Amino acid sequence: MTFENLLIADRAGVRTVTVNRPDKLNALNARTLDELRLAFEAVRDDEAVRVVVLAGAGEKAFVAGADIGELATLTPVQAQVFSRAGQRLMRAIETLGKPVIARVQGFALGGGLELAMCCHLRIASEKARLGLPEITLGLLPGFGGTQRMLRLAGRAATLELCLTGQPVDAARALALGLVNRVVAAEALDTEVEALASQLAGSAPHALAGILDAVVRGGECPLDEGLDYETKAFALCCSTADMREGTSAFLERRKPAFTGT
Ligand code: COA
Repeated sequence: MTFENLLIADRAGVRTVTVNRPDKLNALNARTLDELRLAFEAVRDDEAVRVVVLAGAGEKAFVAGADIGELATLTPVQAQVFSRAGQRLMRAIETLGKPVIARVQGFALGGGLELAMCCHLRIASEKARLGLPEITLGLLPGFGGTQRMLRLAGRAATLELCLTGQPVDAARALALGLVNRVVAAEALDTEVEALASQLAGSAPHALAGILDAVVRGGECPLDEGLDYETKAFALCCSTADMREGTSAFLERRKPAFTGT
């Protein structure tokens, strides 16, 4: 599959999807959103892909938001279509059933932070700046940003970031729970690759069970969430990987998971 605005690279179970519009700080225009939708559909259907790294091209930005040139002319009806398309993409990433790691090296603003927040893990460079500046455009986040930030960082921080539009640096993002780890800019690739390789070598059905229990469990009453957990736990016991993992422990050797 070839794309105009995405780069795709595969290595040992890890697919890296890079938004590639560096001259526009990787801003999400309608075409890029659609290409991301197709790229993640392909990931869902490809058993060889165990983990996705989502990145932005260039040094300066992960993604600096929705494309303001396109936003500027939206009618209310077009805005609804655009918002729903973004929300659907981000929900598809969140419920992909495989871990998605956002590699955040610079600006993650507006739709860019919304995209990072629907990923399961976020590793940021110390140079990253994250925010929801839509208010400065007379707008508000439309790809799920109000809702996902609320769930990740709580109401006080979400209201502060949305109402002021002021971005935060990587250290504050870490303190707020918006990112998992902050590393030196030159260590970002090594850190992301190590994490992605670790996950790619893990049992995929167990990873999927964790994602399902945590993502869906976080959206429903405790008893339903516990039910997700039990079902995923029981399903894992039908896999060869579970037998391999437990046998390897008992035999004092490293497990070799096969995804079966
Ligand atoms: N949509 C469309 N184009 C964008 C963009 C966006 N969200 N963010 C950056 N760009 C473009 C700029 O228009 C510029 O293009 P040009 O060279 O053709 O004029 C290019 O990317 C470089 O950006 P520039 O503003 O010159 O870089 P900077 O270092 O001065 O500032 C930012 C960087 C991120 C602070 C600034 O680009 C910015 O505020 N972007 C918009 C962020 C935003 O509001 N996002 C939310 C949108 S919902």
